Amino acid sequence: MAYLEAIGIDLWVSRRDSGAGAAADHAAGASAVTEHASSASAAAADPAPSPGETAARWEALRSEVLLCTRCPLHLTRTQGVFGVGPRRADWLVIGEAPGAEEDRRGEPFVGVAGQLLDAMLRAIGLDRRTNVYIANVLKSRPPGNRDPRPEEVAACLPYLVRQIALLQPKIMLAVGRIAAQNLLATSVPLGRLRGQVHRFGELNTPLVVTYHPAYLLRTPADKRKAWEDLKFARSVYQQLGQGALTDGNRS
Ligand code: URA
Repeated sequence: MAYLEAIGIDLWVSRRDSGAGAAADHAAGASAVTEHASSASAAAADPAPSPGETAARWEALRSEVLLCTRCPLHLTRTQGVFGVGPRRADWLVIGEAPGAEEDRRGEPFVGVAGQLLDAMLRAIGLDRRTNVYIANVLKSRPPGNRDPRPEEVAACLPYLVRQIALLQPKIMLAVGRIAAQNLLATSVPLGRLRGQVHRFGELNTPLVVTYHPAYLLRTPADKRKAWEDLKFARSVYQQLGQGALTDGNRS
């Protein structure tokens, strides 16, 4: 409750039965599940590489990203921003591109929008230090925070696809239009992508869409809808585990 207050979401309790919320959330999540095939395709990781091999692949990918010169953004960035979080996390959150603070610090979502994202994630039990991995479509900051250009996305998306293949998340949350549309290879507006379970890549990973925290800072009235999305994503995740207790990481 404190988290919801902290991110500016009013708490509403049903007049009829304040205890019915969790069940209603769950039912809403279940009934809204429709599956959409994504034309984007994640390369599946080799079957069961050893932990040492997996670690080596992560490090090789990270080095490639940090040294990348595939697009002109490498000329203006301070550094590449790879991703953050446990590499066994069930959850993967995907944003658009590093901003000024991320470019300076080399970590996604560490500016003001990142603080709101952290609060949103905490509200559903997620923390980048323990159980959620966070990455962006673009690894380099576009000057002036302009939208990524199609050729920049085309150059950079393969890195994200390889991260996904290594991480093998159980669920993905795309925050914002740019991440959602590029991952789903669609131009459908964000509002119409919400409230559904899309599927990503060869592993058919469930993908849920919500607003970008920077948008929510500009449009606080939509925080309520973002909270619905987060509850929906949580219910999808819980249904995957069929009630099994989990700390949010693969065993
Ligand atoms: N916005 C994003 O989409 N990603 C970040 O890392 C920071 C801001």
